[in-house]
Amino acid sequence: MTAKRRRLGLATRAIHGDPKARPDWTAVAPPLYQSSTFTNPVGSSAEVLYSRYGNNPNQIDIGKRLALLEGAEAALFVASGMGAAALAHLAVLRPGDHLLSSEWIYGGVHRLFNEEFGRLGIDVSFVNPTATRTWKKAMRKTTRAVFIETPTNPLMRVIDLEPVATLCKAEGLALIVDSTFASPVNFRPLEHGADIVIHSATKYLNGHTDVIAGAVVGTEQVVEEVRRLMQVWGQALDPFAAWLIDRGLKTLTVRVARHNAVGLAVAQWCDSQDAFTKVHYPGLPQHPDHEIAKRTLDGGFGGMLGLELKGGVRAAERFLRALTIAAHAPSLGGVETLVSEPRLTSHAGITAAQRAEAGIPDGFLRFSLGLEDPDDIIADFAQALARL
Ligand SMILES: Cc1ncc(COP(=O)(O)O)c(C=O)c1O
Repeated sequence: MTAKRRRLGLATRAIHGDPKARPDWTAVAPPLYQSSTFTNPVGSSAEVLYSRYGNNPNQIDIGKRLALLEGAEAALFVASGMGAAALAHLAVLRPGDHLLSSEWIYGGVHRLFNEEFGRLGIDVSFVNPTATRTWKKAMRKTTRAVFIETPTNPLMRVIDLEPVATLCKAEGLALIVDSTFASPVNFRPLEHGADIVIHSATKYLNGHTDVIAGAVVGTEQVVEEVRRLMQVWGQALDPFAAWLIDRGLKTLTVRVARHNAVGLAVAQWCDSQDAFTKVHYPGLPQHPDHEIAKRTLDGGFGGMLGLELKGGVRAAERFLRALTIAAHAPSLGGVETLVSEPRLTSHAGITAAQRAEAGIPDGFLRFSLGLEDPDDIIADFAQALARL
């Protein structure tokens, strides 16, 4: 009789994947296969090993590990988060299909849908993601997939996937979720009814601000189709980037736990300061999705924080110039605290009035809190406020 295997915890899976006894004299850290090609047996018709095919050992290892973290059959890393978004959708959509997307998504993905999908014959429309009724109303006979990003950028809205997933199942639609902001430590969309998960692995999965990468997670069948598209559209990840992500994944659970702790501490302090007119953090009781966040983000509320200052853009710029720890740079999910202004980055493509309508007035600051001592971040914020 074979004993039932204990399910390993997330931290163990992040470090070891599916651990097996090691032979003697093997490296504990994985070797880097910085090779574009590999020798292949003479006369064999098996698929050749070639790094653009995504079958380099460094590429394969991290895919298996992410699948174990998300609770999926398979996962594949590609050259960027944008690559992951494009290939995941192309894997399930055909000319003539309609894609229904949340309107609260990363600006680059918005551009992909608006500027590219039309000429592929894929129609895209956008809805406010918080009301299930709006999804149902916006569906067409040709709708084949629904796309949601959660938590959203930069308001940190947390979308309840389950009602949308139920609707998608009933209508036979694929539910694709961008889970970049949560990472599998805080949220695993497949457990809430999603079919496909995408990540910008540039962010928390790698975690050290030194790699551009993306990932698609789902069934073997979907990931195989993404792999085929990756090969022909030339979207493979470089082996060294894969090696760095391998190392990043090993500390994912401790890093995200620390991001969660720093995020909560800094958000609570900001909330106690009159200089901030609004503090956007799902761990605060007044956040519109606090209850959903408490129920669904089982690791913590994350390291992303939105702030609005009395005095708008001028005050925001003075505050930014006075900060000494946070780097003024786009992106997120790394060990160091970053701050950016959506009006100049992710939301530069829309007018100030449209931004205000979306709840992102000019002067809005988006922080990606890093792993520094929260007291130091708070002291830095305090000295910057004193200089306004
Ligand atoms: C939520 C989200 N999805 C996708 C992307 C695109 O990822 P990448 O920059 O790795 O292509 C980003 C980048 O900022 C993002 O924030």
